[in-house]
Amino acid sequence: MWSPNPDTYPNSKISKNAPTSSLPRIQSSLLRKQKIEGSMKLIIAGATGLLGAEIVRQSLQIPEITQVVVLAHQTVHLDESIDSSKVRSVVIHGYGEYPDNVKVEFAGADACIWTVALTPLQPGFDFAEVKRICQDYTKLGFEAMCEAGPARPFRFIYLSAEGTPEDPTKDPVILPDFFIMRRNTELMVQRFPTEKEGVEVCIARPGVIANSTTWSRALVANLFRIVNRFGRTLPNIQRSELAAAVLNQVMDGFEKKTLLNADLVRLGRRELKLRSTPRF
Ligand SMILES: NC(=O)c1ccc[n+]([C@@H]2O[C@H](COP(=O)([O-])OP(=O)(O)OC[C@H]3O[C@@H](n4cnc5c(N)ncnc54)[C@H](OP(=O)(O)O)[C@@H]3O)[C@@H](O)[C@H]2O)c1
Repeated sequence: MWSPNPDTYPNSKISKNAPTSSLPRIQSSLLRKQKIEGSMKLIIAGATGLLGAEIVRQSLQIPEITQVVVLAHQTVHLDESIDSSKVRSVVIHGYGEYPDNVKVEFAGADACIWTVALTPLQPGFDFAEVKRICQDYTKLGFEAMCEAGPARPFRFIYLSAEGTPEDPTKDPVILPDFFIMRRNTELMVQRFPTEKEGVEVCIARPGVIANSTTWSRALVANLFRIVNRFGRTLPNIQRSELAAAVLNQVMDGFEKKTLLNADLVRLGRRELKLRSTPRF
């Protein structure tokens, strides 16, 4: 059974074992150890993506996460060297429809990490399609999880992006329609707890994920490696840090309602360090 972070959700009931972000690392490690006896069911939406695949990989190595629902629109290939016995692979045709056999898999989930999105980098993209993937699917996916009967609290973390405007009335310079739509999606997600009882939400706004899985991403990764030597002037984050940060937040409770790139780097590094601490 998972407990809400009292700083973010002061009205939530918390167990006496609930961790807080101010706890020293070693104490936090002990609390994490105590929770191994509990069980956590996590849904990872967009599991084929750059980030989603890394979240899946790391979740398989975390003992506190006992069930992983890997949600994708095509088959996810898991690393055969890692025990994947706690994975339920759910393949859907797009993220807009959730038949009963899919909802059954969602039942009792403690949390969802939602990474599904499409960034319109090619000219002449169909904005209606991008909005459907980034915004409509998020709502439909969330509603299907609620209909399935999740645990309480049910934590939902939505991956947005640094650069999304705070003020929806101000037009962003780059891709204004896209970023306004993403801001509206953030606002939509922030309303979820008012619509469904026992739901906690968080918006993660990473900068560029500086890792290579394709040729073009390798180019970007190298560029950021150079920029990083002069300080993180352009917000960016390692894929492993970002995956660790969002996993940390669904396990330990949301530290803030919106996590910026700097928050995610800090949380990710702390989580990776915590995991490398020997458990007794
Ligand atoms: N990558 C970055 O540098 C970066 C920076 C800031 C924020 N973010 C945000 O972080 C999140 C994850 O990013 P990412 O780089 O991991 O994204 P990604 O690899 O491009 O894709 C994320 C997921 O969305 C799915 N998807 C995309 N188009 C779809 C469609 N038409 N129908 C169904 N599914 C579709 C992908 O499925 P397929 O794999 O099958 O295409 C994938 O599972 C996104 O919200 C993104 O905006 C990313």
